[in-house]
Amino acid sequence: MSETAKIILEGKTYELPVVTGSEGEKAIDISKLRSETGYITLDLGYKNTGSTTSAITFLDGEKGILRYRGYPIEQLAEKGSFLEVAYLLLNGELPNAKELEEFEGNIRYHSLVHEDMKHFFQFFSSNAHPMGILSAMVSSLSTFYPKSQTPNRPSKDVIRTIYRLIAKMPTLAAISYKKNLGQPYMYPDNSLGYVENFLHMMYGMPTEKYVPDPVVVDALNKLLILHADHEQNCSASTVRMVGSSQANLYSAISAGIAALWGPLHGGANQKVIEMLETIRNDGGDIHKWVDKAKDKNDPFRLFGFGHRVYKNFDPRAQIIKRSSDQILGKLGINDPVLEIARHLEEIALKDDYFIERKLYPNVDFYSGIIYRAIGIPTRMFTVMFALGRLPGWIAQWKEMIEDKEPISRPRQIYTGANKRDYVPIAQRK
Ligand code: CMC
Repeated sequence: MSETAKIILEGKTYELPVVTGSEGEKAIDISKLRSETGYITLDLGYKNTGSTTSAITFLDGEKGILRYRGYPIEQLAEKGSFLEVAYLLLNGELPNAKELEEFEGNIRYHSLVHEDMKHFFQFFSSNAHPMGILSAMVSSLSTFYPKSQTPNRPSKDVIRTIYRLIAKMPTLAAISYKKNLGQPYMYPDNSLGYVENFLHMMYGMPTEKYVPDPVVVDALNKLLILHADHEQNCSASTVRMVGSSQANLYSAISAGIAALWGPLHGGANQKVIEMLETIRNDGGDIHKWVDKAKDKNDPFRLFGFGHRVYKNFDPRAQIIKRSSDQILGKLGINDPVLEIARHLEEIALKDDYFIERKLYPNVDFYSGIIYRAIGIPTRMFTVMFALGRLPGWIAQWKEMIEDKEPISRPRQIYTGANKRDYVPIAQRK
């Protein structure tokens, strides 16, 4: 007999089915709970709630395991290319040589953004945050491609939307950076690979050919892979939620970018560097800042520490830490901020507060050090995260559409005023 969970409510016992995942993860299926008992479950921040079943990414936070479609993240980061991993996330299998060539060709074909879109950029203020620009521009892509408004059935238009998104995001991201600098926008060069093309649009000038350093290309490729998916995190859940109303994919991705921007999620990578710089400018007294992070009356938190699901170590942070040492070595960079990061990690990892709460460095703690080393400006860090996360968001959206999931609509327990009658303004005290 299959496993069930028993719940006793008002003296009556109900049996609820237990669902087991392919890696042995267990869930109590409460989908009929309300109709059968009148009760709902309450779980602020969804700390214990599975919002879906998914075959894309497996994560074991206790053991520090992360796999895309079954492949360990360590192997993908070591040997794969970002577009190969994007294909894997979207289609469930690694591409063969012909499939990859075709996929890369489709991405190249769509890399230009419509000339009219450049006018949009003109009106952002020159210090607009690139994440705000990116989210707005991705959303406005839907106005250029009206056929993308039919997201609920797999069609050529949907597939084209997916190619367009993966192809145009680096172009839009680079333009948002050039906008900040007041430099001319660069057209994509489709003779280049995905990562090289992005670097060309970021650092190239019409007057001068930019030749990327292979060390930089390799580092960026790795970082994009490490960020490519992370199952039902805040931004992926946002993409699925927006998409569940059958809003178009551009809008859903734009919402995902907005969710990622927050400092508790992807925005933490910018905050980490700003925090390390503040500590350095303040004289480098790390104990003082660790104490501030522990003080419940102080809003300061150690950015880059702690994770909702990793309670032992973040496998992405371990890979990034190793490669940051190699990259800085290869590029001959001696970054004083890295020294502060190392000290901070050392002190925090020995501190009871962090040990008891299982707070370890997360992916954002060291990624900023690499971005800095390869010349990415701090305000672009979260944009880099978004570029990496894009295939994961699309894969999550695609799965949700293909599985015909219902519209996301949580319930609540109301705690407001009970019924009362309207009082005309003249009679109010
Ligand atoms: N510094 C100091 N205390 C912390 C930190 C931190 N970075 N993170 C968590 N805590 C404390 C928190 O105050 C709480 O203490 P207590 O039990 O005494 O009230 C306890 O640890 C549990 O924290 P929580 O906020 O309930 O945990 P959560 O799962 O809701 O939040 C988190 C996870 C990532 C939002 C949080 O750890 C945090 O704010 N970290 C800093 C921001 C950050 O680095 N975010 C990037 C996450 S990785 C990239 C991504 O995938 O998004």
